[in-house]
Amino acid sequence: MPELFTWEFATDPYPAYAWLREHAPVRWTRLPSGVEAWLVTRYAEAREALADGRLSKNPVHHAEDPRARGKTGIPGERGADLMTHLLNIDPPDHTRLRRLVSKAFTPRRVAQFAPRVAELTDRFIDGFAGRGQADLIHEFAFPLPIHAICDLLGVPAEDQDDFRAWAGMMIRHGGGPRGGVARSVKRMRAYLVELIERKRDDPGDDLISGLIRASDHGEQLTGNEAAAMAFILLFAGFETTVNLIGNGVHTLLGHPAERRRLQESLARGESALLETAVEELLRHDGPVELATWRYATAPLTIGGRAIAAGDPVLVVLAAADRDPARFEGPDTLDLARRDNPHLGYGHGIHYCLGAPLARLEARTALAALLTRLPDLRLAVDPGELRWRGGLIMRGLRTLPVEFGAETPAGVQHKDTGR
Ligand code: HEM
Repeated sequence: MPELFTWEFATDPYPAYAWLREHAPVRWTRLPSGVEAWLVTRYAEAREALADGRLSKNPVHHAEDPRARGKTGIPGERGADLMTHLLNIDPPDHTRLRRLVSKAFTPRRVAQFAPRVAELTDRFIDGFAGRGQADLIHEFAFPLPIHAICDLLGVPAEDQDDFRAWAGMMIRHGGGPRGGVARSVKRMRAYLVELIERKRDDPGDDLISGLIRASDHGEQLTGNEAAAMAFILLFAGFETTVNLIGNGVHTLLGHPAERRRLQESLARGESALLETAVEELLRHDGPVELATWRYATAPLTIGGRAIAAGDPVLVVLAAADRDPARFEGPDTLDLARRDNPHLGYGHGIHYCLGAPLARLEARTALAALLTRLPDLRLAVDPGELRWRGGLIMRGLRTLPVEFGAETPAGVQHKDTGR
């Protein structure tokens, strides 16, 4: 049995997941926090568990260990009155809230946001393009989604610096001093509640105004529900997108032939390969390594193992998405892969609400980087890269890169606004 949760595991968990899939596909495991949970690693069982209504998302169903409660991977949410969000609730509450948010957070709203994402992307690349080197996590993957979500939610420009500082504190120091994170969550909650009140009186065309306006059979979100919803949209969509861009660029740099294939396709002005590429990058090394916590509400079996009521179950998306029983050559990166029903966005009623936005941001970011900086390369030995050690998310701490001068084609691509 390979050791889990070590430094080597954080760097490359896939050999350990291959072992688990083969020898112990549903395994009771002690996590670094001391809490124990079932790890589900095969695709078929993972997909089934994600859609199994007997597995609750509500932490009150955890039988034993209060330390596991409220662990969605979002720092500081406990005690901040922000717990009642989509990832912690079950039907019928989940159905009601999801229906309301879906009325405001529509694919159309995301599509209309495309020019703004392109503008932000170019602005951040402009910041380092002339310098020949950059840390792509801190200078690109990190600021892009937080600026995007602030704009989408409708956080006024004059408040965005504060808002970004709180969000950054919560993500960067998730494992750091507790007081700082708790203070940031408290400030952000107070800010969101106040912003919602302001937008009630003076609505705009933004997502928060849309959340306030959304109604379903006469029902609307309460102020607290709208604040919790804005909070979950921010957190479910922030670090995930940072790591989708970070892991995606890292994977492309390690697969020069596939990266060249994508660059050539972009140079021909095609988008089909870019679309399948983002899905394949998600499958191959996606940002959400484990789905969020689930708890058995009744005795059940998964893959022949008896799960007791109250047991926590963690579906290992990263392991399921490399299962040779479902994917041909699962460890091979094939950017044109067509048969790719990966679980990177989850499955079932909690399927990622932000998938259209995530796709838009990842496609825009990767296309712009590869077009404007065609000789992008790692500035350090791959062995020097360090991965964050969190349980749910998989992502790099830094991604130092170097590159030559921007190409005339890249400049032209920028000037024409795409
Ligand atoms: C960038 C890549 C992203 C990935 C890989 C991703 C992945 C996921 C996954 C795996 C889940 C399901 C978790 C579970 O069942 O335990 C989920 C749920 C969710 N995601 Fe995403 N996400 C991404 C971006 C976003 C964005 C940009 C937003 C919004 C701005 C967002 C909002 C949400 C919400 C609200 C949920 C909860 C849905 C529910 O419980 O009904 N995500 N996401």
